[in-house]
Formats: sequence, structure tokens, C-alpha cells
Amino acid sequence: MILKNAKLYGQKGLWSIEIKEGEISRIIPADQPISINDKVIDLTGKIVLPPFIEPHIHLDYVLTAGTPRWNQSGTLFEGIQCWSERKLVVKETKEDIKNRALKALKMQMKHGVQYVRTHVDTTDPSLLGLQALLEVKEEVKSWMDVQIVAFPQEGIYAYPKGDELLEEALIMGADVVGGIPHYEFTREDGVQSVKKSFELAYKYGKMVDIHCDEIDDEQSRFLEVVAAEAYKLGMGELVTASHTTAMGSYNDAYTYKLFKLLKQSNINFVSLPKANLHLQGRFDSYPKRRGLTRVKELLQSDINVCFGLDSIMDPWYPLGNGDLLRVVEVGLHACQMTGYNDIVTALNLITVNGAKTLNMKESYGLTVGNQANLVVLDTDSEYEAIRCQSSILYSIRNGEVLVETIPAEVKVNIPTFTK
Ligand code: FE2
Repeated sequence: MILKNAKLYGQKGLWSIEIKEGEISRIIPADQPISINDKVIDLTGKIVLPPFIEPHIHLDYVLTAGTPRWNQSGTLFEGIQCWSERKLVVKETKEDIKNRALKALKMQMKHGVQYVRTHVDTTDPSLLGLQALLEVKEEVKSWMDVQIVAFPQEGIYAYPKGDELLEEALIMGADVVGGIPHYEFTREDGVQSVKKSFELAYKYGKMVDIHCDEIDDEQSRFLEVVAAEAYKLGMGELVTASHTTAMGSYNDAYTYKLFKLLKQSNINFVSLPKANLHLQGRFDSYPKRRGLTRVKELLQSDINVCFGLDSIMDPWYPLGNGDLLRVVEVGLHACQMTGYNDIVTALNLITVNGAKTLNMKESYGLTVGNQANLVVLDTDSEYEAIRCQSSILYSIRNGEVLVETIPAEVKVNIPTFTK
């Protein structure tokens, strides 16, 4: 297959991308001759870029909002309470969980996602969610790469035997160790829980992704513990701090000191703009905090940040359709990243920055020799991609077309007035 007249994301000029046996075999200027025996798709200057990456979702929770009840306050804590109640009254089978997860993955696939990192709740003695997602991971690998985070939703120490269940999940095959220090009973337990996550990651050779300081409490300072552990163990590029919304409330003097450690530690950040705009600020009257981490300032300090969705219709967030481009648009507004350069580079937040977070190294990207995994947007402009929320014209995986959009045609009839 040859993709002719492709505009490569962030670059000038037009190119032909030649795909052989599922790999990118050549990328050559569009005016050079191409093989006439191959199937040719003329992209007429549309943007080609590597597939979108969902770095943070909870596939075991998706499509469960409203059972047994809706989260009325919209807070993170009522979300955890609803989920805890659901575990007691709704007895799902492994197949039920798999079906929900598959539905969500197909939603994301339609929106150009080919790589997903999902968390799965390990504070469940049956670890049924993990069993389900391990099977899903295997079943979808021809169209989606999935990483699984063992996530102790109700705490490593606040939940009975939370530490043992977490370790069991790693032995069963989870790829990443999670944690939720701000939910533990005390600051001391929270610090200890972070150390436990790192100890397990080190023991089993796993990555770390902590739900960190997802609260509007300016005193919630587990991020410094995560970054210090990562730095001391030399694990920075394998470590992710998700949410870190308390950073939106830290004073500037402390944040200045913190940034030095963050930079030194080389850890990654995941911001979840839609979920946290919804969840945070719920205890404020007015003014209400936006409740996001300092995305703009982290990026300006050359610290890696990517965007994710977190939820699709679960006890923590009632909406969501799997579309990361919408997350980017909302995130740019929420973080006041609407300068021209912010906009034209915004797709980094759901592509290369996500790849770095998932530690995908050189296997990701439009490079000769890599798997031919890519998406084509229905636009020739990075700016218009964000402004107009361009659709995914094609999502291609190993040289096969996974998704093809036939653009809708809107007919406009402007009436002419006659006397
Ligand atoms: Fe989350």
C-alpha cells in the first residue's frame, strides 16, 4: 500500500508513505516515482500522524454510571463510595466486564486510538476485573495494545490486605503498579503506600503509575514522595504521576522548589482535563478552582505531560465517548494553552507525549522499519485539526485499514428574498 500526498504532522511538504508486509518501508517526497503495482490512497495533503494514545482509563469501570445509584455530589469520594456499593450489589461475570471493556475500546479505536493504558481495581478479593482485562488485552492485540495498571482503588493500607492483592495482581500479569496515597487514612500511610508501590515495581520489574494528589487540598504532597523515590531508584522514565490536581492549589514558592525535583526525577505526568474539571472544585463555593495540574508550566519546564480521558460513563464521570481530540480541546481551554504554538503542537499531548509515558521508545512513530500504525486526519492543517475537531479519515494498523470515515455532507441552502 502507498499513501500518496501525505502531510506529515508538524512538517512541511508532501510525502509518499510506502507500506510493505505491515511495516513502513519507505517515506519519500511526493514528487518521486512510486510503484504502480501497489494499492495507492491519495491523501491530497491530509495530515498523517502516529496513532492516538489513551494513557489513563479505567476499563473495568466503563459504562457503569447509575448502578446502583448516580454520584449526586460529583466528587471523587462519592464516586469511590458508589463503586464500593456497586461491588456489593451487582454481581457481574467476567464476560460482563469484558463486554463493557470491549465496547469502550471500540469507541476509542473509532477515534484513532491504538494504544491504551488502563487501570484495574485490585481492591476486590476475587480480582475478577483483572482476570477480565488480562483476557481482553490478549483478545484485542491485533487492533489495540493494552497496558494494565494494578490499581488499589480503596487503598493499599486502607483496604484489608490491599498490599497482598496488589502484589498478587502483578504476579498474575499486570504491567504497571498503581497507588492512591491521598486516599489512605493518614499522611504516613500515604507515604508508606508510595514506597510499597515502588518496592513492588522494583521487585517485579514493572512500571509505576500513581493516582497522585487527586484532591483540592494544597497540603496533599505525595507527588514529592513519588518523584523522590523515582529519582533515588533511577526509575524516572518508568514512573507516571496521574492527576496531581493538588498542584493547582500549591503556593508558588513550594511549587518552584518542587519543579526542581520533578525535572531531576524525569517522571511523566498524565492530566485528565475533562474528568478533573468535573470532579474538582466541588468543595469550593466561588471562586471555583479549575482543579487541574499545572500542565502549561510543566511543559514549559520540559517535563513530559500527556492527556487522557480517565472515564467513560462511570461513577466518577457521567459522560465520555472515547474521543481524545475533545479532551485536547477542553484541556487547552482549561489550562489556558490557546496561544498559536500551543494549538499547533497540541496533538503531541495524545501522541508522542503519551508514547513516552507508556515507555514505548522507538517502536512508536512514523519511521521506516516501524509497524505501519498511523492515523490520517481529515485536514491539512494542525491548527484546523484542533479548531474543527477533524475526524479520523483512516486509522491504519500493520498496514490494514482499521477505521475509515466517510465524511458527512452538509448541504446549505441560503434563501434568496424576493419582493
Ligand atoms: Fe483514574
